Amino acid sequence: MPGGSPCGPCIGLLDYKTAKFALTRNRRVGLLHRLLQLGVLGYLLGWVLLVRKGYQDTDRAPRAVVVTKLKGAAAAEVRGAGRRLWDAADYARPPQGGNVLFLVTNFIATAEQAQGTCPESPSVPAGMCTEDADCPMGEPVVHGNGIKTGKCVMFNTTHSTCEIYGWCPVENSTLPRKPLLAEAENFTLFIRNTVHFTKFNFSRCNTLQTNDPSYFKSCTYDPSLNPSCPIFRVRDMVEATGETFGDLALLGGCIRVRIEWDCDLDRPVAQCQPQYSFSLQDRRYNFRTASYYWDSQRRLYRNLLKLYGIRFDISVHGQVLLPPPGLLLHRSCLPSCSLPMASCWHGFSPWLGSSA
Ligand SMILES: *[C@@H]1O[C@H](CO)[C@@H](O)[C@H](O)[C@H]1NC(C)=O
Repeated sequence: MPGGSPCGPCIGLLDYKTAKFALTRNRRVGLLHRLLQLGVLGYLLGWVLLVRKGYQDTDRAPRAVVVTKLKGAAAAEVRGAGRRLWDAADYARPPQGGNVLFLVTNFIATAEQAQGTCPESPSVPAGMCTEDADCPMGEPVVHGNGIKTGKCVMFNTTHSTCEIYGWCPVENSTLPRKPLLAEAENFTLFIRNTVHFTKFNFSRCNTLQTNDPSYFKSCTYDPSLNPSCPIFRVRDMVEATGETFGDLALLGGCIRVRIEWDCDLDRPVAQCQPQYSFSLQDRRYNFRTASYYWDSQRRLYRNLLKLYGIRFDISVHGQVLLPPPGLLLHRSCLPSCSLPMASCWHGFSPWLGSSA
C-alpha cells in the first residue's frame, strides 16, 4: 500500500493485507524462541492452573453469625458473705451470648452500699488529707468515689482521708490472692457459627449434623482427637494461648478466638471444616456492675461487684474456592466466553444448595 493514500495509515475496505514471514535458520534464535514459548506454557499450566488453581472463582467475604453459651457451676467463698453458688446466669455476660462474651473468674463484692457520707478509700491518692483544708467542700475526688464534704477524717488507725458524699461504705480494693471462681477452668464454651458466602449462595455450620442428641453433651473440642466438636473447655483455650488459667483468671484478660474457613469445593463438601486458633489479646480486664434494692423503710441500697474475668472475642474469616463446571479448557483457552460460563454457574448452584 502506498503511504501517500488519502486515508493515511488505515486500510481501505476493499484492500487486502497479509503478513510477510522472515525465516532465520539460526539455532540459537530458534532455541530461544521455543524456550520462551515453553516458559509461558509452563507458567500457565503449572503455576496458574495447577498450583494457584487460577481457573477457580473465590469468595473471601463470609457473612458470619456466632452464638455462644457458657456452661458450668462454681461455689465461691466471699469474706463475710459466706459461700455462694455461681451459675451461667451469674458469670456470663451478656446473657444472650454473641461473638463477644465475658466469663467472671474473680471479683470484689461490696454489699449494702447506701448513699451517704463516709471516708474516701486510702487507695485514691487525691483523697488523702492531713487537715480539713485539704478537702474543699463540693469538689469531686479525682479518680475517687464521691464528692468532698469539707472534712478530713480517720479512715483507720494509719490513714486519714477526706470524707465524701457517695455510695458508702466505699469499695474495698484488695483483690483475693486466688481467683474466687477457680472452677471456671472446667466450664465449657459452646460456639455455634454459621457462615454464608453470598457470591455462591453457599452456607456451612461448624456444628456436626448429627441425630445423636447426646453428642453435644458429651464431647469436648480437641484439635487432633475431636476437631469437629464445637464445645471448648475454658482451660484448654487459655492454655492454647500459652498462658496458665490461674494467672489469667486472677486479673482477667482478653482472648481472641479465630475461626478460619478455607474450603475448596474441588474436594468433597464434608472436608469444608473450620480451624480454630486462640491468642491472648490483652491482660487485665475488669468492670463494675451493681444490683439495686430497697429496704423496708424504702431506702435505696446496692450490692456492688467489681468483676475480673476472661473476655472472648470471636472472629470469623474464610474463603471458598469454586471450580467452574466444564472446567479447565473452558476457562484457560476461551477467556472471552463469559456468557456461556455464566449460564453454567446457574446450572451448578442447585447442587451447591443441596450440599450446604
Ligand atoms: C477440673 O476438672 C479436673 C478433671 O475433671 C479436676 O481434676 C480438677 O480438680 C477440676 N478443677 C477444679 C478447679 O475443680
